[in-house]
Amino acid sequence: MSFRSFFCCRTILDRSEHGRKNATNWRVFSLKELHSATNSFNYDNKLGEGGFGSVYWGQLSDGSQIAVKRLKVLSNKAEQEFSIEVEVLGKVKHKNLLSLRGSCAEGQERLIVYDYMPNLSLLSHLHGTHSAECLLNWGRRMSIAIGSANGIAYLHHHATPHIIHRDIKASNVLLDSDFQARVADFGFAKLIPDGATHVTTKVKGTLGYLAPEYAMFGKASESCDVYSFGVLLLELASGKRPIENLSPTQKLAISDWALPLAREGRFSEIADPKLNGNYVEEELKRLVLVGLVCTQSKPERRPTMLEVVGLLKGESKEKVSSLESDEMFRLEPTVCSQKTSGLDDSSDCMSKDTGVDVKQEIDSLAETALPVR
Ligand SMILES: Nc1ncnc2c1ncn2[C@@H]1O[C@H](COP(=O)(O)OP(=O)(O)O)[C@@H](O)[C@H]1O
Ligand SMILES: [Mg+2]
Repeated sequence: MSFRSFFCCRTILDRSEHGRKNATNWRVFSLKELHSATNSFNYDNKLGEGGFGSVYWGQLSDGSQIAVKRLKVLSNKAEQEFSIEVEVLGKVKHKNLLSLRGSCAEGQERLIVYDYMPNLSLLSHLHGTHSAECLLNWGRRMSIAIGSANGIAYLHHHATPHIIHRDIKASNVLLDSDFQARVADFGFAKLIPDGATHVTTKVKGTLGYLAPEYAMFGKASESCDVYSFGVLLLELASGKRPIENLSPTQKLAISDWALPLAREGRFSEIADPKLNGNYVEEELKRLVLVGLVCTQSKPERRPTMLEVVGLLKGESKEKVSSLESDEMFRLEPTVCSQKTSGLDDSSDCMSKDTGVDVKQEIDSLAETALPVR
């Protein structure tokens, strides 16, 4: 979509949404206003950098704090992502989704303005600049898991048309002043027309979080987000990265590391050592089990995000215990032989029995053939 057609769209949307309770109040910012808010995009104001460009902290004349995402180069692709992000974010409103304050398009400049999230991203606390401070106690981790699940469930089940995020990862879960999760970065989002189960598309996303059917065949559906979210849950529970480099040639996906431990009930070995044993055992177990069912290679075996929310909250004891008795958590080797043939199945089996990691092949395929940010 060109920038011009995006604005046509926006007008239509504005009209159709007129009077709706959740209509957003984003506005167009002038470049001058954003220059003065960010001290002319000063290096000291820089919060981070992604595939799209740099993100700067800023303060508006009313005193409110903002984060400004500034597009790096104005290519057709970048402009399309910019338009999608503004369009998608402008339409959704939920306490666990990052709100859009507005946008700016002047000359070659394309900027998106968000609420500033003072506790930055989940990534910065798990693996980045804030990881040494150990601010993610167990209570915060559980509320981040449930909050971000709620935000994604809203995109999948309540937004019209339904939205697949396509880039769920730790750097896209931002944390507000109370450490509540806000899912961000909708530039990769895909709108699903009513009645469609999936869309086939060029693969976009981040290595380590890509569902196998999406990485290999470009089949994007809600369950691809469920897979990525499962990786995120395992990351949150263990403090490990989605893919660990065991040696220069050997990598291990977090789900392949956690599954054998979960099958043997060794949950305390999965828990992030930074927690120093300070966690609620039942909740840790739930987080890990849900993370693992979400990362099953067969998309039809993964739960929906609504089910994930219920499971994480532990709403039904029966559902949680039936999760525990799922065949994927049985120790018997029959788990493998029961499955039908296909690459998807072998990824589960081989990770348990031989340590050979088919997902790794998928990932390296992704690495060579797919654009990765
Ligand atoms: N609204 C915001 N508030 C605070 N920090 C933000 C905000 N948006 C983005 N950031 C920071 O900027 C970084 C870069 O963001 P982004 O361009 O989305 O790339 P990525 O998500 O791939 O890291 C994020 O990792 C985050 O630390
Ligand atoms: Mg991001």
